[in-house]
Amino acid sequence: MFITLEGSEGAGKSTLIERLKKYFLNNNIEFIFTKEPGATEEGKELRKILLDKTIMLDPLSETFLLLADRLEHVRKIINPALEKNKNVLSDRYLDSTYAYQGAGRKINQDELDQLIKPLKFPEPDLTIYLDLPVEEGLKRARGRDKLDRFEEEDIDFFERIRNSYLKAAQKNSHRIFTIDSTNSETKVFELARDCIEKKLNES
Ligand code: TYD
Repeated sequence: MFITLEGSEGAGKSTLIERLKKYFLNNNIEFIFTKEPGATEEGKELRKILLDKTIMLDPLSETFLLLADRLEHVRKIINPALEKNKNVLSDRYLDSTYAYQGAGRKINQDELDQLIKPLKFPEPDLTIYLDLPVEEGLKRARGRDKLDRFEEEDIDFFERIRNSYLKAAQKNSHRIFTIDSTNSETKVFELARDCIEKKLNES
């Protein structure tokens, strides 16, 4: 089972992941938790460049670095785990690229498809998208620590990202489950847990 978690800044992915980790551990459900960018040793180096706000990247260069990170991630972590029938949960994956580089950085969908399709990344069985109004998310994210290269962007950038996620969720309703992140942390966790368990029981 391959599950991905998506959402924009401050949507509560980290809190949800901590709660899911505990829940799976307590219930003897084995899951490999991983993330993008930066899950592999090679990816960690790419992540440094991607988040460094002193580095100016062309949107396409940014995309290539993210895809290189994903290729390492898929080949070294995700595919080997799925081949052994393990459960994998990735904090961000393909939908992030369409939202951030597509809508955010304005690379058109066909161009992105042309870069991405030949790489044959596995499609997630389930994607949980945490949705939050942009103002709210930025307030939460910016209250935390130093801003990275993405978090520094203006509000329009994040509005485009949110709209793109919402559209993707509508278009791919068989795969993407949207959770309203203005709910309490407990409610968000319960909704995500129930949805994951249902999927696990179906398979
Ligand atoms: P990270 O510190 O992991 O934050 P978050 O908690 O928001 O996931 O930062 C990763 C950043 O990389 C995040 O701002 C989104 C961005 N990103 C893309 O722009 N495209 C992608 O394909 C991926 C995987 C991430």
